[in-house]
Amino acid sequence: MDNNDRVVSAANIARDDEYADASLRPKRLSEYIGQRNVTDNLKVFIGAAVSRGDALDHVLFYGPPGLGKTTLAGIIANELGVDLRITSGPAIERAGDLAALLTNLNEGDVLFIDEIHRLNRNAEEILYSAMEDYEIDMIVGKGPSARSYRIDLKKFTLIGATTRAGNLSAPLRDRFGIISKFELYTPVELGEIIRRSAALLGTEIDGESLMELAKRSRGTPRVANRLLKRVRDFAQVKGDGHIGMAITDEALSSLAIDKMGLEGLDREILRLIIDKFGGGPVGIDTIAAAIGEERVTIEDVYEPYLMQAGFLHRTKQGRMASRDAWSHLGLTPPERSVQLGFMVDGSEDE
Ligand SMILES: Nc1ncnc2c1ncn2[C@@H]1O[C@H](COP(=O)(O)OP(=O)(O)O)[C@@H](O)[C@H]1O
Ligand SMILES: [Mg+2]
Repeated sequence: MDNNDRVVSAANIARDDEYADASLRPKRLSEYIGQRNVTDNLKVFIGAAVSRGDALDHVLFYGPPGLGKTTLAGIIANELGVDLRITSGPAIERAGDLAALLTNLNEGDVLFIDEIHRLNRNAEEILYSAMEDYEIDMIVGKGPSARSYRIDLKKFTLIGATTRAGNLSAPLRDRFGIISKFELYTPVELGEIIRRSAALLGTEIDGESLMELAKRSRGTPRVANRLLKRVRDFAQVKGDGHIGMAITDEALSSLAIDKMGLEGLDREILRLIIDKFGGGPVGIDTIAAAIGEERVTIEDVYEPYLMQAGFLHRTKQGRMASRDAWSHLGLTPPERSVQLGFMVDGSEDE
């Protein structure tokens, strides 16, 4: 399976046009499934802001890709009844770009900055005073003729999203009043999401297939929706359009997604740790080099699910494959050496 076929590869996630998916994106909190730790609190803060007629405090969302951070930012703007402006860290090249965005916001508007950990230093510094005092200082010109202008902003809400809160500088992180961590979804929650998406797509799917897709979506709504669409294609071409177990199994195995929802690169990572390093521990940089993926992609996209599924553990010495990982790949785990590694718990590098 080459890179383009991977269901969760970084390239796919970037290519997956966030806004082309608009039809499946929930627009209101009542349609947003799961992630209750995040939404229960937000409901209170949104309600309070609305009843005071005030802007919502700045919000930071962090967690793996595809878990609904962008979606929830849109929902917040809808629930507040304000406009949403969307940008991303890498899209803001100069501080002036950000200043232009900020000065165009109206009272209470939401500015969403995706991948906020990739904001450049100059732009980040503009945000400090914008977030805290709703004003920015712009320096125009160079040398002795340079002049500083103070510009007042409307009271707005910044929503930042990042896959890695740890990469945010402390001064920026501290300026968010609400910081929420997104968790992988349970199969039951994913089942609800798939049921809702199937209804919106006008596709019939039976209960068993629905749960099978949910179990094989690696805890991620974006993957669940993508799998549903691919299985729907199979059902249309090879069947009568109705999604049943035979079609589901055929589609998933032709996508090389196994019973546990692992795809090619997940298995490659486990196989590397097992075949080349006897089950680990092995450092993340070694894994990244051997697999030919970026370290951040492995950490952000692949590891969360491998860990949740119980196949991978982080220890101080490095990553280790669990006994279940050996069995899952059809291998016999060694007697006791691997298990010992798990007793040395803690995180390798965070
Ligand atoms: N809680 C949810 N309920 C229903 N659908 C969701 C939920 N979270 C995400 N989705 C779906 O998954 C897709 C990916 O979500 P997105 O907000 O783009 O993730 P992120 O910004 O965290 O990468 C969305 O298009 C949406 O259809
Ligand atoms: Mg997003």
